[in-house]
Amino acid sequence: TPRVFSGIKPSGGLTLGNYLGAIKRFVGMQGEMETIYCVVDLHAITVWQDPAELANATREVAAGYLAAGLDPTQSILFNQSQVAGHAELGWVFNCVARVGWMNRMTQFKDKAGTNAEKVSLGLYAYPSLMAADILLYHATHVPVGEDQKQHVELTRDIAAKFNHDFGTAFFPITEPVIDGPATRVMNLRDGTRKMSKSGESDMERINMTDDADTIAKKFKKAKTDPAALPDTLDGLAGRPEARNLVDIYAALDDSTPEAVIAAYQGAGWGRFKPALADLAVAKLAPISQEMSRLMNDPAEIDRILAQGAARARQIAEPILKQTYDIVGFLRS
Ligand code: TYM
Repeated sequence: TPRVFSGIKPSGGLTLGNYLGAIKRFVGMQGEMETIYCVVDLHAITVWQDPAELANATREVAAGYLAAGLDPTQSILFNQSQVAGHAELGWVFNCVARVGWMNRMTQFKDKAGTNAEKVSLGLYAYPSLMAADILLYHATHVPVGEDQKQHVELTRDIAAKFNHDFGTAFFPITEPVIDGPATRVMNLRDGTRKMSKSGESDMERINMTDDADTIAKKFKKAKTDPAALPDTLDGLAGRPEARNLVDIYAALDDSTPEAVIAAYQGAGWGRFKPALADLAVAKLAPISQEMSRLMNDPAEIDRILAQGAARARQIAEPILKQTYDIVGFLRS
């Protein structure tokens, strides 16, 4: 049976990239399949997190899920550390995955930079824990942004090697779901870099909690080239900043880049940017208002996460037990 799993790290605030590349698409899959969405706090601590901020950021991701339309009666929403099976299956996968596979992970190489000796061992093993997140539920579909594709491919490799080594077909070979116009939302100041929570300037990104004036200012100051919008999508080739703004518009409007170009062909930035800002405010303001309302009631968020964790455990526990049997661990 098809089952969706995905997750977001509670490290810093949520961006428009997280919304369009992940959360909005999570909402779209709800009701069509069984959906499990996690706040991956175990992954967050692969780099230092202040404990109080981690708790707050965990609630903020949960609030983003809820405010965007995830319904805790339809989807399982929880934070990873409340379900011990993630860490337990992660250990088994650490013993299945090969060091050489980890060495090829581009996200690790980017994050470790020139200082790979000093990063945490957890950062290195990160993709193995991510495989455990997905396979602990036998998830078949994983909606993610483009930057997570290599990690989902590694999950397939780990499932295949486990199945091969133990002579079983126990773990499914999961499909990454990377679709729509916004699977790689770019930085507003540099169209060749990804929009991220950690980029040094706040002007590079739209945060899900930005107010209307801030959103308008950021789009107004977004880097562009001087040319007007072309007549066809081909005319955006080699214009990464322009392409990014068209893609963002399309994703926010549930449209396509082709349709956006058709509507705005020949328009200058003086017309397109305010239209984009208005659209973004119209779509994001209700979500950010709901997020701040939810954040005023942390006990309610905690209750929803605890309930989700209890449901997650019911799926995870038999799968972990069977894994342990396959591996040959004794239990009474
Ligand atoms: P994270 O927390 O970095 O990002 C969460 C989700 O948002 C997507 N995303 C973007 N999409 C489009 N454009 C962007 N600029 C952009 N920035 C972020 C990410 O692709 C992701 O889908 N390793 C994962 C979390 C994780 C996970 C999992 C995901 C842990 N276990 C199991 C799926 C399944 C991460 O760090 O995502």
